[in-house]
Amino acid sequence: MSTLIVVGVQWGDEGKGKVVDLLAREADIIVRFQGGNNAGHTLVVDGQKTIVRLIPSGVLHAGKVCVIGNGVVVDPQILVEEIDALQQRGYLTDSALLKISETAHLIMPYHKAIDLARERLRGEGRIGTTGRGIGPTYEDKMARVGIRFVDLLDEQVFGEKLAYNLQEKNIYLGAILKEQALDYRQIFEAYCRLRQRLAPYVINTSRYLHQEITHGRKVLFEGAQGTMLDVDHGTYPYVTSSNTVAGAVCAGAGVAPQQIHGVIGISKAYTTRVGSGPFPTEQLGPAGEKLRRDGGEFGTVTGRPRRCGWFDAVVVRTAARLNGLTSLALTKIDVLSGLPTIRVCTGYEHHGQYYDEVPASAQVLEGVTPIYEDLPGWAEPLTEIRSLDALPANARRYVERIEHLVGVAVKMISVGAGREETILIRPSFF
Ligand code: IMP
Repeated sequence: MSTLIVVGVQWGDEGKGKVVDLLAREADIIVRFQGGNNAGHTLVVDGQKTIVRLIPSGVLHAGKVCVIGNGVVVDPQILVEEIDALQQRGYLTDSALLKISETAHLIMPYHKAIDLARERLRGEGRIGTTGRGIGPTYEDKMARVGIRFVDLLDEQVFGEKLAYNLQEKNIYLGAILKEQALDYRQIFEAYCRLRQRLAPYVINTSRYLHQEITHGRKVLFEGAQGTMLDVDHGTYPYVTSSNTVAGAVCAGAGVAPQQIHGVIGISKAYTTRVGSGPFPTEQLGPAGEKLRRDGGEFGTVTGRPRRCGWFDAVVVRTAARLNGLTSLALTKIDVLSGLPTIRVCTGYEHHGQYYDEVPASAQVLEGVTPIYEDLPGWAEPLTEIRSLDALPANARRYVERIEHLVGVAVKMISVGAGREETILIRPSFF
């Protein structure tokens, strides 16, 4: 097996950064294929914390190639800042270790301005976006007015596309959103400076990946956000603007379906969500407080407190089918220590109808009653544990019950933020 996809199977923040960082040891190339700097992957190595937003989480391993695929939307200013910060710490010193797709779309200042202004105007009805311009950039991509890296490389093409877009956006910003107009010269000059910094990394990444996969190199595809935030399959409209499911790798990295060999899903041992939208197992009382406190559940990008609740097998079961999971990694199980009883949602009920998968309507999902099963908890801390056998019996039973309810085998359990704080049930994933 030479390619592996890692996806989140809840609402994002499942701990993908840590798992990708761990799996990157075995990989040669790590690829982002969707999303942008709305993602924030936290990596802890030797007690030192690093947060990456755009560059794949494999970057902390020497000699691994990191690829930003065509499906990613890139804020070039943030990317340059991230490269600088990593280089200052001795990473990414060889420019051959980072490759950016020439057809990835650029997040422009007007995308951010529109994202923020719209959320402000929506008031109570806001989506709770990260405010990074992600949605407006994907909108322009689909409207075929987006600006790609290949356009940025040609100063004249870039200038023309910027002028065309800015004329329209400034009218929209002023007349509809009541925002200030943005200045052409300022954006043009700033982006030309960024072009000089980023041009050495820009290539045809789809072709590059094809060549490398053909030569047997091990490629890891790193998903951002989670399956329930997928624009088609998630809890629409409270979703992000890209496809987050494993199938998005083919379009977002330009890789053919038969070149994909395995899909690992990452799930927390409980559930969290940031932003608005239905969340059937949310706990507003002491249980939710405990999860937020012990799990440090505050957003890496926005710092917002995350909404917390019990493990929802309906969500993960739906995601297992959509992504074709070949295995599951369960993260942050250590956070559950000390709970006398742990609840697991096995299905939903709504007006006499039973749901074993997530219903399409946000209104129905908002109104469902979760059906819970209560499992006995454990008191022991789990952070020092490195094997399945050493887990308290009730923690083992909890893992087995989840496997049974979602129909996928758990092959990795994370018991802390550090690389080493992991129970590896399968020695190799490629
Ligand atoms: P956007 O991606 O900034 O447009 O935000 C849309 C929704 O996706 C909001 O509810 C965000 O909180 C959520 N979201 C976006 N990126 C992430 C992520 O990396 N983790 C968790 N939630 C996210």
